[in-house]
Amino acid sequence: MQLDKSAKDPAKIQTMFSTIAPRYDLLNRLLSLGIDGCWRRFAISQLPKVKNAKYLDVATGTCDVALEIVKRYPGAKVTGVDFSEGMLELGREKVKKAGCHDRIDVRFADVTALPFEDNTFDGVTIAFGIRNVQDYKKGISEMGRVVKSGGKVVILEFTSVQNKFFKAPYRFYITKALPFIGEIISGKKGAYKYLPSSMLEFPGPEEFKKAIEETGLKDVRYYKLTFGVTAVHVGTKP
Ligand SMILES: C[S@@+](CC[C@H](N)C(=O)[O-])C[C@H]1O[C@@H](n2cnc3c(N)ncnc32)[C@H](O)[C@@H]1O
Repeated sequence: MQLDKSAKDPAKIQTMFSTIAPRYDLLNRLLSLGIDGCWRRFAISQLPKVKNAKYLDVATGTCDVALEIVKRYPGAKVTGVDFSEGMLELGREKVKKAGCHDRIDVRFADVTALPFEDNTFDGVTIAFGIRNVQDYKKGISEMGRVVKSGGKVVILEFTSVQNKFFKAPYRFYITKALPFIGEIISGKKGAYKYLPSSMLEFPGPEEFKKAIEETGLKDVRYYKLTFGVTAVHVGTKP
């Protein structure tokens, strides 16, 4: 189950997401038993409410977060970036189908080298992306750099379940059931082996909070959701 550093090699991650992209949304709904939408909506609710806001969603994938943001915040514009062309292609189609192409700009970019000026956005989100970034502190620093002073960086990610009744069945689910279902539906072997390892190895919420603080964000808070399966960390740019 231990992941070596090369498992998060950016080129490998890029290829993996482009490979699973066609079944990504379906598997998300299925494997999370449909709860993933609630997690994303909670994360989005942490964004600062600003008139005609400009938000950035990094590792936007198939644009679920970007689409939720424009639904929830009338007048807001979102830029969604990702480095997997396969995921972006599906994201662009969804944005077009939803009639939101005038409010969501979908672009290719790496989280660790964002192509935006300092202090550009009112809020920056990342959902289920930071775990896959080899140098995740660099990614968070970049999000902090492009957000305006007083703006928020909102990070939704899987975290370590501590609930003593839920821990064992959850571990069984993610290490046995999830790779099995993932492989059957996606038809791809490796990707759904990587997923449980990356989920189990990601730092717990306290350790992650400290890492976020080390990037210079202040007033970092976190909320555990669904028995601590996921956590939303929110930091403010001073
Ligand atoms: C699990 S998906 C999450 C997608 C979407 N945010 C969601 O909520 O469904 C992770 C995404 O992170 C992207 N990603 C991982 N590392 C990245 C990086 N360094 N730069 C840009 N995107 C990255 C992948 O391409 C993939 O689309």
